[in-house]
Amino acid sequence: MWKRVERAYASLKNRVDFKPQIGIVLGSGLGAIAENIESVYSVPYDSLQGMPTSTVEGHSGRFVFGYINRVPVVVMQGRVHYYEGYTPQEAVLPVRLMIRMGVKALILTNAAGGIRDDLNTGDVMMISDHISLVPSPLIGKNDPSYGDRFPDMSEAYDAGLREMARAAAAKAGLDIKEGVYIQFTGPNFETPAEVRMARAVGADAVGMSTAIETIAAVHMGIKVLGLSFISNKACGLGDQKLSHLDVQKESLAVVDKLSDLISEIVVLASNK
Ligand code: HPA
Repeated sequence: MWKRVERAYASLKNRVDFKPQIGIVLGSGLGAIAENIESVYSVPYDSLQGMPTSTVEGHSGRFVFGYINRVPVVVMQGRVHYYEGYTPQEAVLPVRLMIRMGVKALILTNAAGGIRDDLNTGDVMMISDHISLVPSPLIGKNDPSYGDRFPDMSEAYDAGLREMARAAAAKAGLDIKEGVYIQFTGPNFETPAEVRMARAVGADAVGMSTAIETIAAVHMGIKVLGLSFISNKACGLGDQKLSHLDVQKESLAVVDKLSDLISEIVVLASNK
């Protein structure tokens, strides 16, 4: 696996002469945020050696290197999920690549179902902690040049970045909530019983990504900010059946709001 990361890194490095400071992963329907970037390079995943590609509607599958408010960034327009048939190790490979390219902080965004009563469609929830129901991406032989065998997870979502996100939200006039994200494997949405279980174990929002990416980033010593966009009430809590199309539609409605927030956070985080 580590050789594969290095191979993909070499083929990316060959194509791109750019050192991003911050990496951003765009979740379902949020890809349009990349349109607000002053783009310098755009690299489709399938043009890179050994790179898993994104097969999901609403995820375009490319790295965009460029500037947000003059801060050099790399954006994953489209992520790779465990449920697409990739191993957890493969699913986090693009995140590892962004870190190899030099990013010091990661902003991971996703669409999620709201479990806590006050988390409604259209809300943004900053992730304070996570529960992962997916096998760890660190299973397998460790390469100590990447990180420790047993990384500490007591502050997986960096407190400093969360403080910055609160400040950025206040500046953007956005009411931002906070809570615990739980990652199920997907691709099916959860059952109402599973959502009740998730609530009982302390989860506030549910999705199919992000936690394993955070684990890979923490492994490599990189700070993470997680932002969940609540695209629906979790199964059994709302009055509608869930569909990916609706998730994308709701996401589109908040792209501008989230884009402003991310721009503010990027500026604050780059000054640290
Ligand atoms: N469950 C899992 N993933 C999701 C949801 C959900 O309700 N909404 C958006 N992504």
